[in-house]
Amino acid sequence: MMTSPTRTAETATLRFDPFDEAVLGDPYAHHAVLRDTAPVVLFEPGGYYAMARHAEVQAALKDWQTFVSGRGVGLADFQIEQPWRPPSLLLEADPPLHERTRGLMSKVASLASLRNVMPQWQAKADTLADQLIARRHIDAVTDLGEAFPLQVFPDLIGLRDDGRDNLIPYATATFNAFGPRNRLVEQSLAASAQAAVWVAEACRRANLKPHGWGAQVFAAADRGECSQDEAERLVRSFLSAGVDTTVNGIGNMIHAFATHPEQWQLLRERPDLAKRAFEESLRWGGTVQTFFRTTGRAVDIAGTTIPEGAKVLLFLAAANRDPRKWDDADRFDITRSASGHVGFGFGIHQCLGQMVARMEAEAVLNALIPRVAQFRLTGKPVRRLNNTLHALGALPIELIPA
Ligand code: HEM
Repeated sequence: MMTSPTRTAETATLRFDPFDEAVLGDPYAHHAVLRDTAPVVLFEPGGYYAMARHAEVQAALKDWQTFVSGRGVGLADFQIEQPWRPPSLLLEADPPLHERTRGLMSKVASLASLRNVMPQWQAKADTLADQLIARRHIDAVTDLGEAFPLQVFPDLIGLRDDGRDNLIPYATATFNAFGPRNRLVEQSLAASAQAAVWVAEACRRANLKPHGWGAQVFAAADRGECSQDEAERLVRSFLSAGVDTTVNGIGNMIHAFATHPEQWQLLRERPDLAKRAFEESLRWGGTVQTFFRTTGRAVDIAGTTIPEGAKVLLFLAAANRDPRKWDDADRFDITRSASGHVGFGFGIHQCLGQMVARMEAEAVLNALIPRVAQFRLTGKPVRRLNNTLHALGALPIELIPA
């Protein structure tokens, strides 16, 4: 499937499909060729460009004027194709609209309100950890990676209590839909039709509890910062972006420790490394693998001209393991500073919910460090293929009590 690169006068070309299921199942096997071929490559027959080195990926994320998001951050160009759902007013928007929506959403997703809930989140993580240790044999994906975010995140937003199991199928379809219209998109859209209806309903003002982040978005609408319709769509952004990301962020972190027991040992000796450990697991495990941009003008990158209106695939996960940026880049090492990783993106679209993700991971680590001596893999980890996420379907482990 992978062929050696060819080089036309100015553009290096790769002839494989980065969304092929074999590639999605083992993306890291393909990153070196992406990075080493050239700073910019053209995928054929897909017809889109790509960058995978840290310097170019970070520069493109920063240059929102050239690499626009408003034409979609998936393969579809919204200027030509109808989006599968009304576009996100944050992720798929450019300034000045983005400036307004981001400003109001940043006030809602504040650190102060997270600090208030952290003691409850820690108590929930501790209880969950006790239950899991008692069971000893668990699937770290469903029993921990999914279970913990679903215990805390919907309450933070103030979602209705019934139907929360719709959140993961909805998010799965959303992240698949950034890729080409392949089997993964068809299947997950079909499987989530009901979930999409539930999500649309759940984002309505009447269905949100009074004190959550959802209600606060509507309060911003009352102050004239956005319309009521926009408020619904902004609440939807929390639900699209805030669930399957943390589910797999936690899953990939446990996978990293299960496959690197000496790093878990080290973390138990030095729990002060917990924050670093999560950042390093994001750098190393690449929960969000890729996002597209569209060129709003022709641009020259290291001698390659990308024309206006081209789709450009940014390999965040490959950038996060670029040896040009990181020493021993493929090594999972919780003592390194992963600062500068683009696992949460970079620039104006950098993850709005990164503190939520960090606090969830911290609560989980704080609960597990004193209780678990080792995560022993009892079966082969199974990847759940997704066009955007590096997701896990199953992670069977035995928790060896401390
Ligand atoms: C480990 C967990 C997470 C990861 C790895 C992650 C990753 C990312 C990345 C890479 C972007 C940038 C997208 C781009 O540049 O096109 C992003 C944006 C975003 N994230 Fe996250 N995310 C996580 C958790 C969350 C959570 C918990 C929330 C909600 C509370 C959230 C809400 C958002 C939103 C709304 C955006 C769009 C921001 C904008 O366009 O201004 N994310 N995230």
